[in-house]
Amino acid sequence: MDKLVITGGKRIEGEITASGSKNSSLPIIAATLLSGSGTFTLHRIPDLQDITTFRQLFDHLGAETAFSHNTLTITTANVQSVLAPYELVKKMRASIYLLGPLLARFGHARVSLPGGCAFGPRPIDLHLMAMEKLGARITIETGFIDAVAEGGRLKGATIDFPVSSVGATGNALMAAVLAEGTTIIRNAAAEPEIEALCHFLQAMGADIRGTGTTELIIHGCDSLRHVEFSNIFDRIEAGTILAAAAITGGSVTIRGVIPSHMESVLQKFSDAGCRIETTDDTVILKSTGRLKATDITAEPFPAFPTDMQAQWMALMTQAEGTSEITDHVYHERFNHIPELNRLGAHIDIEGNWAVVHGPQALSGTKVMSTDLRASASLVLAGLVAEGTTEVLRVYHLDRGYERIETRLQNLGAEIKREKYSEFG
Ligand code: UD1
Repeated sequence: MDKLVITGGKRIEGEITASGSKNSSLPIIAATLLSGSGTFTLHRIPDLQDITTFRQLFDHLGAETAFSHNTLTITTANVQSVLAPYELVKKMRASIYLLGPLLARFGHARVSLPGGCAFGPRPIDLHLMAMEKLGARITIETGFIDAVAEGGRLKGATIDFPVSSVGATGNALMAAVLAEGTTIIRNAAAEPEIEALCHFLQAMGADIRGTGTTELIIHGCDSLRHVEFSNIFDRIEAGTILAAAAITGGSVTIRGVIPSHMESVLQKFSDAGCRIETTDDTVILKSTGRLKATDITAEPFPAFPTDMQAQWMALMTQAEGTSEITDHVYHERFNHIPELNRLGAHIDIEGNWAVVHGPQALSGTKVMSTDLRASASLVLAGLVAEGTTEVLRVYHLDRGYERIETRLQNLGAEIKREKYSEFG
């Protein structure tokens, strides 16, 4: 296995271009299944394990893919199978994104139930509810979701989500664009990744109104075409790099961003005492290293994202005063707390509410986490911890950050990747 070995105390300084977004790549890739018309060309796709898993799923379905220099080409004309097997689905919960497009194009989909998750229950009831509303008959047996469109084609409907869900909104959208008639999605997720999916589907010929809002109106069409498309930047990677500069008292310029996608996060950096400047596609953060305790509450967009909660907590271990961190999206997403405390932080937790008592000097040791963003928070802590921090099980980080160690090295961090064995 790989680990990251970090020697703390170096300032993060320099310029970098943001990577493409993982969380928009996944539904966009899934949406290519909606058309068998030709070859899709997708630019700015990050080179991540989740993308590799998706390509394996596509191979299994009978699609052809090629990936080079962050450009992915996909031909879905020869897709024969509608089965997404457990061996691949278990590696990535986002495989559930295959359900909507397969069902919409072929009238049938058989997708393995995704397994558990490191930070609490992550149900798929809303995905299934949306498909049923659109006229699918769903049965669950032997660990598979078997969905069949009544009469062979989905039918437009009103879908009112009781909870804002990125994944269920994406799936409902992808199913609705080929359904017969009009679909209204209420309480839709308005995250930039869903907006990007809308833009992609519109480029394919879909009729979607209300893009970027919580009410989407879709007039279904008979067929969609292949397109060339450029993905949006990864706002969570960008936020993590800003946090690296903020925690080390450094300064960083990130190019290729859309500042409005990270307004709530930029505001919090500013509240914490960092200087933030933006242009149309650039964000600059300057930190003196003197940080003020700043509370955050993770909620759906445009509020502070749950995917930045762990990184913010690492930052607050170095801030003057007490900060309160609440996660309303995932109530149990706090794996990082015991590990940050092992590095010397003082964080208390009660339910989905954590209190960080800062600043505390951190000192390096071996740490490990069981999910992606929690691991990112440990890397941030390692950047300021005295001595050497070893972040084990880097495969979690590799699911969401492309070459994180190279990117941080280029910005001045002392960080390297090494092999190790967990059995001594
Ligand atoms: C996506 C992101 C993930 C991010 C999350 C919230 C991807 C691949 N992943 O995950 O990084 O942390 O959005 O911004 O884009 N829920 C239900 N029933 C469902 C579906 C969700 O109750 O059927 C609940 C979840 O338990 C959670 C809330 O809805 O409390 C939001 O989850 P959701 O937006 O669906 O997260 P994902 O799409 O899985």
